[in-house]
Amino acid sequence: MSGYNSVFNPSQPEPSVPINGGGLSENKKFSYGFSSLRGKRASMEDFHDTKISKVDGIIVGLFGVFDGHGGSRAAVYVKQNLFKNLLEHPQFVTDTKVAIAETYKQTDNEYLKSENNQHRDAGSTASTAVLVGDRLLVANVGDSRAVICIAGKAIALSTDHKPNRSDERQRIEKAGGVVMWSGTWRVGGVLAVSRAFGDRLLKKYVVAEPEIQDQLITSDVEFLVLASDGLWDVVSNQDAVTMVQNVQDAQEAAKRLTDEAYKKGSADNITCVVIRFHHNF
Ligand SMILES: *[C@@H]1O[C@H](CO)[C@@H](O)[C@H](O)[C@H]1NC(C)=O
Ligand SMILES: *[C@@H]1O[C@H](CO)[C@@H](O)[C@H](O)[C@H]1NC(C)=O
Repeated sequence: MSGYNSVFNPSQPEPSVPINGGGLSENKKFSYGFSSLRGKRASMEDFHDTKISKVDGIIVGLFGVFDGHGGSRAAVYVKQNLFKNLLEHPQFVTDTKVAIAETYKQTDNEYLKSENNQHRDAGSTASTAVLVGDRLLVANVGDSRAVICIAGKAIALSTDHKPNRSDERQRIEKAGGVVMWSGTWRVGGVLAVSRAFGDRLLKKYVVAEPEIQDQLITSDVEFLVLASDGLWDVVSNQDAVTMVQNVQDAQEAAKRLTDEAYKKGSADNITCVVIRFHHNF
């Protein structure tokens, strides 16, 4: 995200060091890989989370990409707490959608409370995918994005929260806020996303209420990509999907996407998680 200048500004940019990894679920029905590049002025933290768990005998996968702005505090907090809170929600299995919506809100409130003594505002996006059995719930706050590949076709499962999205602009104006042009469209002329965790000073307008989409993992669903705007700013949804459709190894797929984004000039904060579904079981 742009608009914040780092105090730390070395004349020699530090090299970007990629962080990669992955795993396979116990029932072998899905595998995942991640790749993260934190270059130049960013801190070397890697803002994604992947968890495989078992709740009431059902295998559950939790995947998220968290892209910070104004420092890394909010992204670190969301990474450390969001899925933990979600798994503790009493309705996690019985009403996963409600559990996700409430957990986003709760985690944002608790983050803001924990930040009482900070005078500088930090915020974070969250793009998450929660797999419960063969049901996938994608929730989004901000401009990281989830794109699914179904029979070779890219389908976005989230719509970026940009301040100039007409429904978002209306919501912000109704709450008494303004959307102004300053290099790009920004809430209060400051923030280039319309929803986020944190951002206390803009909280009336910049909410952490997710939009949630429900997707059944049928046999034509191949894989899901979650990524920060570092990827989507330079690679289209369909190009990303086409590029890795035949890469069976999810970790290799995630790595190729971040490499491509870096090559295309997206120098900072590229985080990508790929979840591949296996149907031959
Ligand atoms: C990269 O991430 C850091 C930490 O969250 C943030 O402070 C910085 O603004 C980000 N930089 C860009 C260009 O997105
Ligand atoms: C929002 O503004 C950007 C330019 O900053 C533009 O590329 C995009 O199409 C706009 N989106 C909408 C929904 O108007």
